[in-house]
Amino acid sequence: MNTIPGAKLETNSQTLAARVDRLFDFSAGQVERLIANHPGLFPIYTQNGRWAHKGEGWTEWCGGFLAGMAWLIANRTGSADWRNRAIALSSQLEPRKLDRDVHDLGFIFLNSYRPWYQTTGDPAPGEVLITAGRTLALRFNERGRFLRSFLAPESLFIDIMMNVPIIFLAARASGDQSLFEIASAHCRTTERTLIREDGSTAHEGIFDLATGRFLRQSTQQGVAAESTWSRGLAWSLYGFCQVYAFTQDRADLEVSWRNADCFLRRLGADRIPPWDFDAPAGARHDDSSAGAIAASGLFELARATAAIDQARATRYEAAATELLSALLCDHYIAWNTPAWEGVLKHGIYHFHKRLGVDESVMWGDFFVLEAAAKLLQAQASPRSWPAQSHARD
Ligand code: GLY
Repeated sequence: MNTIPGAKLETNSQTLAARVDRLFDFSAGQVERLIANHPGLFPIYTQNGRWAHKGEGWTEWCGGFLAGMAWLIANRTGSADWRNRAIALSSQLEPRKLDRDVHDLGFIFLNSYRPWYQTTGDPAPGEVLITAGRTLALRFNERGRFLRSFLAPESLFIDIMMNVPIIFLAARASGDQSLFEIASAHCRTTERTLIREDGSTAHEGIFDLATGRFLRQSTQQGVAAESTWSRGLAWSLYGFCQVYAFTQDRADLEVSWRNADCFLRRLGADRIPPWDFDAPAGARHDDSSAGAIAASGLFELARATAAIDQARATRYEAAATELLSALLCDHYIAWNTPAWEGVLKHGIYHFHKRLGVDESVMWGDFFVLEAAAKLLQAQASPRSWPAQSHARD
């Protein structure tokens, strides 16, 4: 087990393996409670620890994370009940495959229908994935060569890097090369416009719709256009790494490496990211969800890197383990907070809109569990585990 400095880790007296077991048990109980207490709800964030029903959503992007947690638990336990629950939750998302209002179809379907397809081999969820990928590709702006965000036609978000893999998946499964070209073009435009020299990321890019020319970096959820919103950096790290699995293009892997190195350079000794790495000292709040995404992404990146650069892969796996370990303590996991309905505390959804600030957020719960599952896989089969098997994509 890694030892990491930091007062918040004083509660980490159990071994990491024991805390991972406890996380799975606790998450299963919280998901059961969510389904029982809030039937039909796919929540985004909590308010005072209770899943919000009426809070503003900004955009509807989180359905796949609840289903994804059920799949992670089903695959860990081998339980038929959990598999049925995962299928039931995933099925409710199917109408979203035609949703043209959001850029989030990867978030929704890659964590629900993809494990369904991979686990069962049933062709029906595979068809849903292809349709969702085709729908997302309709957001492509030919002049600017990017997939536009939900917000405006001239807007590109870094978050879309976590969604573009569903277009690659649809391209591979359907043999439609035009989908591959759209997805590749989006990645190159994102690299050129949102990834900075030092590996940091801007949240948003703004384009001239008449010419397709890139105009400027901007932000919606970060401190400023030139700052580094930590969750955006984590989305890019993980997103480019997933893309590399489809393209085998070294350019995609190297963006992920640059993002990872920047993220790790900017983390403090406690290994918990602030919501924006450039937040002024007085406005510093943790975003535990960014730490969970980065941990899961780094496990993935270690696997992708192993065949090319062993030393780098070892460094990323150690960092992922450290990040996960820092989160698995009483301060961040709600296992000792009665009546708290989420799993991972101290996340942030939208700081400026005051949505889900210092609360549980649905993706934080999902990614901390996913990172824990990857740690177990890495320990069981060092460096050869298929973190996200593409065998059935
Ligand atoms: N919509 C993605 C995020 O808030 O990070």
